[in-house]
Amino acid sequence: MLGRPTLLFLIACCFVSPAHGVVTRDCALPASDCTIRDTARQAHVHVGVTTNRAHGPAERAVIATHFNALTAENAMKWGAIAPTVGNYDFTDADAIADFAASAGLRLRGHTLVWGRLQLPTDLAAQVGAAADPAARLRALVAEHMATMTGRYGDRVALWDVVNEPLDVFTDAFDPNLFFQTLGDGYLADAFTLARALDSDAELFVNEFALTYPSAKLAGLARRVADLVAMGVPIDGIGVQAHVFPLLPLPSRESFRATLQTVADVGLPIELTELDVSIWHFRNEPDPLAAQAAYYGDLVGACMAIPQCRAVTVWGLADSESWLDHMAPFDAAAPNAPLLFDAHLAPKPAYFAVRDAIRTRAVPFRQQAATLRLDVRAARRRGAIHGDAVRIVGRTLGRAKRSLGRGGFADACTHLAGAADALALATGSDVAPLAARLATLRADLRCDEP
Ligand code: G3I
Repeated sequence: MLGRPTLLFLIACCFVSPAHGVVTRDCALPASDCTIRDTARQAHVHVGVTTNRAHGPAERAVIATHFNALTAENAMKWGAIAPTVGNYDFTDADAIADFAASAGLRLRGHTLVWGRLQLPTDLAAQVGAAADPAARLRALVAEHMATMTGRYGDRVALWDVVNEPLDVFTDAFDPNLFFQTLGDGYLADAFTLARALDSDAELFVNEFALTYPSAKLAGLARRVADLVAMGVPIDGIGVQAHVFPLLPLPSRESFRATLQTVADVGLPIELTELDVSIWHFRNEPDPLAAQAAYYGDLVGACMAIPQCRAVTVWGLADSESWLDHMAPFDAAAPNAPLLFDAHLAPKPAYFAVRDAIRTRAVPFRQQAATLRLDVRAARRRGAIHGDAVRIVGRTLGRAKRSLGRGGFADACTHLAGAADALALATGSDVAPLAARLATLRADLRCDEP
């Protein structure tokens, strides 16, 4: 005799037709009831928001329910945590790191070296007064990075090692204290030092104003590719993706193209600071719906690129967006650029983002399908043989079908089966096919819970 919970589970798991909502093992609810957190976990991507010192239990409950990643909007910046050089107050950052750990949120460390804003108020003076300003700044940066990685390295999964190295609108270096004192080598040096201090964390460069094709975009991609080729330990590129008011709205196509340009460097990429001012949609019949559709397109653009594996929205609720407080964007206030309204109710944009995450399967489904065709072709050419080859084809077909249903966990199980079977095959094409299968499993992040 089946108990009521088992019966309900079976109904939810096996008998609800997709027409009434996609039901998967990971999010056993109609899609309309799944949170971003559930959907992101299922798709093996991270979707987060920022938190700030004003957040209390209500905001934290919303964050923990709806997201699986977190960034401190300000609390980990050098000038926020040490208003003057060496005078650290860890209160806010400690609370955020503890909250992230207790709520199972991936924590992004933002940011170790940023020359444009929020530095200790006496940093420039201390450097300027030193007999050897470059040596002094190098020592202070090293001390600060060691303090931050030492205290938070166990909880920070990934650091924005250098934020906004380039000028706002051009591909020249931002003429900040670090560049002026240390030259452009400060960028590579910061990454080398970060790797030595925190060998587990992923190390990102995070850049601003990349949403249109531009010399800056091309310059960033070129510089990062060159540094990586020289052995500088850069693990990923953060595309901030603020959609500012008062400037032209980036077209969906140009946004996709810019993202692809960054992805072509070959590193993982993330949308790190997404917000979309509703100013752009103020003349639409339904501005919230238009904002939602645009959000969905941007997140969908990320999901369509295998290397784009996380999105962070820059703020939780519309009542707290930086755009309403910083010139010139404050002129468009209320920008209402986030996923929750001032009462912490999800906006249409929330659901558009959630639904866009579900499209994550599409590129992987195509990869599984192509791989299956190539296995068959190799078998016909005699470049792969053995009884296991049929199992490889079958399991890849199952993986493809699972991905078509958004069943990431099932797809990973089938891909593991395909890899096991491929290991038993022989022939000249086994190694390259196995390498492609391994890449597919890694891009799907099958080894993560
Ligand atoms: O906390 C102090 C407060 O003690 C003080 O009385 C008050 C007086 O101005 O300032 C408060 O600090 C402000 C802080 O936000 C917290 O509200 C700073 O002045 C203000 O400059 C700071 O703005 C932040 C800005 O970065 C500069 O650090 C924004 O909140 C934050 O959203 C914004 O985020 C940046 C990313 O880090 C990098 N990419 C661009 C993005 C938008 O500018």
